[in-house]
Amino acid sequence: MIERTLVILKPATLVRGLAGEVISKFEKKGLKLVAMKMARLTPEILSQHYAHLVDRPFYPLLVESMTAAPVILSCWEGVDAVTVVREMTGATNGRKAAPGTIRGMYCMSGQENIIHTSDSPENAVIELDRFFVVSDYCPWDSPLARSINSPDEL
Ligand code: PPS
Repeated sequence: MIERTLVILKPATLVRGLAGEVISKFEKKGLKLVAMKMARLTPEILSQHYAHLVDRPFYPLLVESMTAAPVILSCWEGVDAVTVVREMTGATNGRKAAPGTIRGMYCMSGQENIIHTSDSPENAVIELDRFFVVSDYCPWDSPLARSINSPDEL
């Protein structure tokens, strides 16, 4: 099933000059970029996005980290995109993330873990609606679509 999922390139990813490299991984995988923008996240929107974490001891440091520089918000589309992107992301803590995953390749931390990615199709819808409006999306037909998927997978 064709899905859309949210990827947030965290502030440290921009600071470290890794944004292009991470975006390139998703492009080369065959996912389709359908929305992208830079933003400076606020404590208010983070309290919605990380509502399940606001009582955790690390939450103040998480807000400090996520507001330290801009983020890049992006929406990627593809067959089973939520699971595909989540598995490419790797475990929360970069020190434990499998080699070859994005966190496994590029980070050493649970907090400074390069990217946030939606963890289920239901949360992907909620998270995309939080950060994007309809006019942010640029749906497009790739001339290479037949090289990415067989018609019976769509
Ligand atoms: S948890 O701990 O099981 O609820 O993990 P999760 O729901 O995946 O959310 C963890 C997010 O909080 C960020 N964060 C930390 N996680 C663990 N330990 C520490 N100290 C910590 N500090 C911040 C972590 O980067 C996850 O953010 P996202 O954006 O979801 O990757």
